[in-house]
Amino acid sequence: MKIAFIVSEATPYAKTGGLADVAGALPHVLSRQGADVKVFMPLYRDVRQKGIPLLKKADRLSLGEAGQGETFALWESLEGGASVYFIDKPALFDREGLYATSAGDYPDNGRRFAFFSRAALVALKALEFSPDVFHVHDWQASIALAYLKFACAGDPFFRNTRTLATIHNLAYQGLFDKSILAEIGLPETLFRMDELEFFGKVSFLKAGILYATAVSTVSHRYSLEIQTPEFGCGLDGLLRRRSAALTGILNGVDYAAWDPATDRCLPANYAPGKLQGKDVCKKALLAEFKLPADKPEMPLVGMVSRLAGQKGLDLILEAMGGLFSQGLRLVVLGAGDARIQQSLETAHRRFPSFFGLRIGFDETLARKIYAGSDMFLIPSRYEPCGLTQMYSLKYGTVPVVRATGGLDDSIREFDPAEGTGNGFKFADYTSEALSGAVKKAVRTFAQKPQWSKAVQNAMAGDFSWERSAQEYGLLYKSLIGR
Ligand code: ADP
Ligand code: GLC
Repeated sequence: MKIAFIVSEATPYAKTGGLADVAGALPHVLSRQGADVKVFMPLYRDVRQKGIPLLKKADRLSLGEAGQGETFALWESLEGGASVYFIDKPALFDREGLYATSAGDYPDNGRRFAFFSRAALVALKALEFSPDVFHVHDWQASIALAYLKFACAGDPFFRNTRTLATIHNLAYQGLFDKSILAEIGLPETLFRMDELEFFGKVSFLKAGILYATAVSTVSHRYSLEIQTPEFGCGLDGLLRRRSAALTGILNGVDYAAWDPATDRCLPANYAPGKLQGKDVCKKALLAEFKLPADKPEMPLVGMVSRLAGQKGLDLILEAMGGLFSQGLRLVVLGAGDARIQQSLETAHRRFPSFFGLRIGFDETLARKIYAGSDMFLIPSRYEPCGLTQMYSLKYGTVPVVRATGGLDDSIREFDPAEGTGNGFKFADYTSEALSGAVKKAVRTFAQKPQWSKAVQNAMAGDFSWERSAQEYGLLYKSLIGR
């Protein structure tokens, strides 16, 4: 089975969020399970700066027929694992950041990712890799399906290619002015409601939803939620129409990369039943955030998050005073929205001995927080899958989450009487509901045998990629049969 994976970020090359973790792990596991997978992503400045060895596969490939049109180079990673190829177009990708700077999104993102998507199709031909399944992720790659349908129609190279579009986050749709169609070489007739038009704009994501043989999302619950007006971001009607072709497959964790027993970023390692190292991590984390270490009985709550409306930081800010009066400390690592950042900074000045804050993207500190915290807070407004709850489970840090999307699918409420469950959940998107769930967790924390059981259950969970990759394998097979 030949699979082409078209994605805008992947670890260890470039990352802004969970998509990179997925694209860095899933192709590797699929390869181990027997598929022939090639991953395509842009050659960002971030990738060049990592110093990972790359091999040039082609110096000058052209988007147009017979060598006409814009050109790019193609590189292959020599890192090992899955085969990863890079579309090299310095004018578009040799820039600071992947999609944006602190001033906001790059204004030519439409052109950048249309180029990338189209170049991936050209690269497949150059590599003579005619895929059985062409698997696109999010809006940045979804537009490739418009090229496949309109520019490659009738091309024998893609005659047997089926397509899968995975939605990692429906709120990011890649919306651009009508003029983008001509600019990126797609027919202007696509500016229609039953094609790519979306409330007066061109939607790149819609190309994925409309033209893919099948559509998937990253949890079962989210696949249902996005078919409702509340979570559908204006696309719920279309998604309901495609519901027979729509599934949800929960993301997994790459336990070779995320394991407190082997994680080199931690001041001490630990494993289930041998948790002394976790105490060392907690002390070090309090020190790192300059929080007092005088009260070990006080739970430490962690959070690692993009600072975006999706992630529920407004609830935390609202609940904060009350949370600290419950007797807990909080550390947050995040980067993103400037206004959320400012509100957090204000709160940090107000509660310096309870609230530790670090603004930035810091993989090492993230790992120290997963390990050194007792609880992990994820109050998302919506969450397609969420990986941070799965990482905290593995690190024995009990998640307190809002029951939405993949958070609801992966966390079961802890029941002290039965000794079952791996976290604490709340339903309503209110600071009261959040405080209530935290209160339950804090009370349980004070009952040592109960808390040990919750930690044990958390660490025993198995969210490895193998099962999810098998589900993708079955989905690919069913497409090839179509
Ligand atoms: P999303 O993709 O919506 O941001 P996920 O939970 O799927 O949410 O994945 C987030 C990923 O990004 C995790 O690997 C998490 O550790 C990482 N991450 C988020 N914010 C930061 C940050 N400020 N520093 C380091 N890692 C971060
Ligand atoms: C998106 C979602 C997140 C998911 C990730 C990987 O960024 O917000 O919930 O885990 O994609 O699929």
